[in-house]
Amino acid sequence: MKKYVLVGAGARALHMFAKPMSGEWRDRLHFCGVYDVNRVRAGLLSAECGNVPVFDEFDRMMETVKPDVVIVASADYTHHTYIIASLRAGCDVITEKPMTIDAEKYREILEEERRSGRKVAVTFNLRFAPYFAKVKELLAAGAIGDVYHVVLEWHLDRSHGADYFRRWHSEMAKSGGLLVHKATHHFDIMNWWLDSRPNEVSGEGNGAYRALINLHVIFIWI
Ligand SMILES: NC(=O)c1ccc[n+]([C@@H]2O[C@H](COP(=O)([O-])OP(=O)(O)OC[C@H]3O[C@@H](n4cnc5c(N)ncnc54)[C@H](O)[C@@H]3O)[C@@H](O)[C@H]2O)c1
Repeated sequence: MKKYVLVGAGARALHMFAKPMSGEWRDRLHFCGVYDVNRVRAGLLSAECGNVPVFDEFDRMMETVKPDVVIVASADYTHHTYIIASLRAGCDVITEKPMTIDAEKYREILEEERRSGRKVAVTFNLRFAPYFAKVKELLAAGAIGDVYHVVLEWHLDRSHGADYFRRWHSEMAKSGGLLVHKATHHFDIMNWWLDSRPNEVSGEGNGAYRALINLHVIFIWI
């Protein structure tokens, strides 16, 4: 069985990965370690997940466990560091969305993926929500014929939406902004539904991220 380790011990890491890996998936993989800059968080996750070993340093975890797969679920601006280090160590990587926060880091990751021959997978869990999967099924079956034009507006309510302005998510340097941090889901779902890629993308926002009041994105699929 393959050895998995986890970077980041926040809510996402716990519910999406750590609990299933130490529970329903435990016959299919070895969950061998967790690392988070915040040791208390890592300790709490470990306590809920069969006391999986907690490491104080990422490098130490990699040297000790020699994992096959590294799951990256830390804050967005840290993803590229762990993805690249894991590829260099010969591991496959599963990373939470977004893969990273800007084009430069994205190119570095792609380059290292190519060089290492290992794989980086980004988890777009929205694809598995029944509503989204049903739309995909209908479109693929030709229920509405060929799609020539898509207008997508995504509204966040004051509970879910407000959450993006409370912590590191609200800082451009840490999340890449809502267009990256949140809309990466929407870009992915559109590409997936249409089984296509946009020929042209343009966007505009108003002011600094903390004061963002307008978001307007146009995709053109031809
Ligand atoms: N797929 C989805 O729908 C979805 C939903 C929520 C979050 N996410 C993604 O999951 C990831 C985690 O989000 P979250 O809501 O759990 O955030 P969070 O802030 O609760 O957890 C992030 C964790 O990363 C740790 N961390 C920060 N800097 C670090 C570093 N340099 N090295 C190691 N650990 C570090 C923090 O201590 C924290 O425990 C993010 O990438 C986020 O975009 C995805």
